[in-house]
Amino acid sequence: MNRRTFLKDTCVACIGLASGAALLSSCKTMKHSSGTLTENGLIVPLKDFISSSTPELRYHAYLVVRNDALQYPICIYRFNEQEYTALYMRCSHQGAELQVAGDRLTCPAHGSEFDRTGSVQQGPAGDALRRFPLSVGADELFIDLRKQS
Ligand code: FES
Repeated sequence: MNRRTFLKDTCVACIGLASGAALLSSCKTMKHSSGTLTENGLIVPLKDFISSSTPELRYHAYLVVRNDALQYPICIYRFNEQEYTALYMRCSHQGAELQVAGDRLTCPAHGSEFDRTGSVQQGPAGDALRRFPLSVGADELFIDLRKQS
């Protein structure tokens, strides 16, 4: 193997390793759930928010719920043990599905941005996101799909 081939092969391997590590890292921070559909809403186990239990409990800041019964996913932000928001991931501008990253929901269509409460941070969208009322139980969240707040 000559020097050029060695460098080329080594660089390709390094890029592959770096890409794989980045992909694994992003999967670790993104959490999905399907929840359980009931007559009036969706039940999401609180344990789905747990990201690590050792040495202490750690939680995901948000969870994306995808269910066949929903046209768009719902993003649930966890503020603390008792406070959550459930946001419909449908852009209020023209209905594109939003993407979530950290504390922002962004629209790939025209660039609108929304915060963790669903308020518009950047247009062209002018209206807040649809928010579902939810109640916090001992082990689960209940998202009421009949209403919006
Ligand atoms: S559809 Fe989202 S900004 Fe236009």
